[in-house]
Amino acid sequence: MKILVTGGLGFIGSNFIRHVLATQADAQIVNLDIQTYAGNPENLKDIAGDKRYFWVQADITDPALVGRAMSGADAVVHFAAESHVDRSILDPGPFLKTNVIGTQVLLDAARLEKIKKFIHVSTDEVYGSIPGKRRSTEKDGLFPNSPYAASKAASDCLARAAFVTHQLPVIITRASNNFGPYQYPEKALPLMITNFFEGKTYPLYGDGLNVRDWLYVKDHVAALAYILKEGTPGEIYNIGGDTSLKNKELVLKVREIMKIPPSLVARVPDRPGHDRRYALNDSKLRKLGFEFKHSFEEALFQTIEWYKTHESWWQPLKKSGGYAAYYQKQYKKGTAPFSKLA
Ligand code: NAD
Ligand code: DAU
Repeated sequence: MKILVTGGLGFIGSNFIRHVLATQADAQIVNLDIQTYAGNPENLKDIAGDKRYFWVQADITDPALVGRAMSGADAVVHFAAESHVDRSILDPGPFLKTNVIGTQVLLDAARLEKIKKFIHVSTDEVYGSIPGKRRSTEKDGLFPNSPYAASKAASDCLARAAFVTHQLPVIITRASNNFGPYQYPEKALPLMITNFFEGKTYPLYGDGLNVRDWLYVKDHVAALAYILKEGTPGEIYNIGGDTSLKNKELVLKVREIMKIPPSLVARVPDRPGHDRRYALNDSKLRKLGFEFKHSFEEALFQTIEWYKTHESWWQPLKKSGGYAAYYQKQYKKGTAPFSKLA
C-alpha cells in the first residue's frame, strides 16, 4: 500500500512512519512535511536509507505540490498541523492557514486522486472542557476553546463535509494527550523531563488541577494503523489512554521516578482559557477490535529513559531556552507576534 503521510517529521507522524515500516513489509510512504520548527529529520534518521520511504519538503497549503506528492497514493494519513496551544494563543494565523486551509487542500487533492482512505488525525480538544466524570463520545458536539482547538474543529468539519458532499472515504480520529519519544520539548511532559535533567524548574500552570488523559504515542500510532485497515469511512474514532491525571499528579509521578525535589516545580500564572478537563470514551475503537498494549506507568518510565539517553536530540531544540517563560512574558504583555521566537 502506498501511503501519503503529512507531518511525518513531527512527533506522532514520525512514530507512525516508523511503526508502519516495521510492521508492513509492502508499505511505501511519501512524507509531505515542510519542516517547521516542530519538524525534524533527526526524528527519522534511523529509516532515512529505507527505500520504501521518501520525504517531500512542501507546504500542505500548496495545491500543485500536494497534488504531485499524492499522485499514485492509496491512502492519506494527515498529521501536519500547528499543534501547540500556547503558540496559538499568541498567534492564531499559522494555525488557521495550516490546520484549516491545508486540510481542505488535501481533501480536494484526495478527491481528484480517488484516494481509498483518508485518515484525518484530530484531537480530544475539539470537544472542549468536560466537567465531572463524563467522557466525550464521538457523538458529542464541538466546543473548542483555544485557537488551536478551534482550527482543529474547523478541519474536522471540512473532513466530514468532504465525506457527506463528495463521498470521500474520510475517517476522523480524535486522540488524547500523547507522550513518548521525539516530542518537541515545549509540550508539558518533555519540557518537564528535560528541565528536571537540566536541574531547571518546571512551570506548572495555575493550580495544577487541570486533567489530561495520557496516551502513549506507540499505542496511538498502532491504533491509527489499525483504523486505516479496519475503520469505516464516515466514522469518527476516539483514541484515549484511559489514564486521567491532574497535572499535579503527573508532576509527582515524574518527580518520584526521577527523584526530583518539590523545589523544582514553580507555580506560574495560568494559560488563558485553560481547559479544565479532557477525557475520552474510546469504547467504539475497542469494539472495532483494537487493543492498547502499553501500561501508563511502564510507558512513562520508558519515556523518561528515552530522554535520558537522547540528550543530543533535545539539547539543540532547547537552545533558545525557556519556551514556557517566554509564553508567560507574552501573556502578561498581551498578544505578540510569535515570529520573535522562531
Ligand atoms: P508536531 O507539532 O510535533 O508536528 C507537526 C508536523 O507538521 C511537523 O513535522 C511540521 O513540520 C509539519 N507541518 C506543520 N505545518 C505544515 C505545513 N503547512 N505543511 C507541511 N507540513 C507541516 O505535531 P504532533 O504533536 O505530532 O501532532 C500531529 C497531529 O496529531 C496534529 O494534527 C495534532 O493536532 C494531532 N494530535 C496531537 C496530539 C498530541 O498530544 N501531540 C494529540 C491528539 C492529536
Ligand atoms: O489533548 C490533545 C492535545 O494535547 C493535542 O491536541 C495538542 O496538540 C497537544 O499539544 C496537547 O495539548 P495540551 O495543551 O493539553 O498539552 P500541553 O503539553 O501544552 O499541556 C498539558 C497540560 O500541562 C495542560 O493542562 C497545560 C499544562 N502545562 C503545559 C505546559 C507546556 C503546564 O502546566 N506547564 C507547561 O509548561
